[in-house]
Formats: sequence, C-alpha cells, structure tokens
Amino acid sequence: MAGSDLLARYPHDKALHAGACPEERGTHMRVAIASDHAGFDQKGPIVKHLREEGYDVVDLGPRSGERCDYPDFGDKVGRYVASGKADRGVVICGTGLGISMTADKVPGIRATPVQTVQFAQLAREHNNANVIGLSGRFVSLDTNEQIVDTFLTTEFAGGRHAARVEKIMREDDPSFTGVPEEFGL
Ligand code: RB5
Repeated sequence: MAGSDLLARYPHDKALHAGACPEERGTHMRVAIASDHAGFDQKGPIVKHLREEGYDVVDLGPRSGERCDYPDFGDKVGRYVASGKADRGVVICGTGLGISMTADKVPGIRATPVQTVQFAQLAREHNNANVIGLSGRFVSLDTNEQIVDTFLTTEFAGGRHAARVEKIMREDDPSFTGVPEEFGL
C-alpha cells in the first residue's frame, strides 16, 4: 500500500504521520492501558507513574484482579488506539504475549510484547509500534516502568524503516493477496 493510501486508511494513526506528535498538537500524549488478572497488580502503579509524568492515561480495565480473559482487554486497547482516542497503548498480561497478539489483530495496530528497555526503543525506532505488551509475571515493575517510559518517548526513525512498516500494514488490507510465491527464491 502506498504511503498516502495508508494515511487515508488510518487517519488517526499519528505514528504514520512523521512529525505529527502530540507535543506539536499542544496536547499531552494520550495512553490507553488495560490488563488481565495476571497484569492487574502492575497496572495501577504504571497508571500512577504515567500520570505523574503528565501523560493523559485512560484505564480500560479491569477494575479488580479477578480472573478474566486477556483477549477482551487487548481488544479494548487496540480499538481505542486504532480509533484515534489514544496515541499509544499499553497492555499487560502474565507474559505480555496473548494480550499483544490480540491487540495486534485490530486493523491499524502494531503491537508487540516487550521485555527489555532496548526492545522498547527498537520497537519504536524500527517498527513504529503503537501498542506494547508487558509481562506482569516475569518482568519487575521497575523494569516495566522504564520500558513504558522508553516506549512513550522514543520516536520512529523513519528512513529505511518506513517502507518496511508500510509492508507490515498491508497485512491489514483485505485486497492484499500476499507476497508472490516466487519472491526471494
Ligand atoms: C493467564 O493465566 C495467562 O495465560 C495470561 O495472563 C497471559 O500470560 C497470556 O498470554
């Protein structure tokens, strides 16, 4: 899909518009966050941490640590970001895997699990991730806060990465029939 087509398909995807960052809009970055029961204990402290840093945070649940299904909350954050109601999303489950998989299936979303600060940086610089998935069971709160800070403050590098990100997004296009079989052989 050409760049202009991508922008037409995802008018709310600020990450696709080079330079259209919230600071330039004169607003705080809006962050949507949700978890399942396994990510619940870290969600509250991360929300508090981000609000103290000045982010406009929307907590999409759950309200208690009772057992629940991570796809419900990955979906909520994915759709919230894809609709333009938030600039970025953070999802937390036990591993960060299932909730990221779900969010990534929402058209317009580039979600990936992240376990280190360096991966958070690269997920932004190279992949222009607009949602990250954190592990509430295997990564400490301190590290996850550093991961989220890096995710929210690192810009997409563009350049050679831009065409690759466009190729990620063509997977959302129902008219895209796949890379030709002979490609790369
Ligand atoms: C819940 O037990 C666990 O499966 C979930 O939090 C997550 O790790 C799934 O990917």
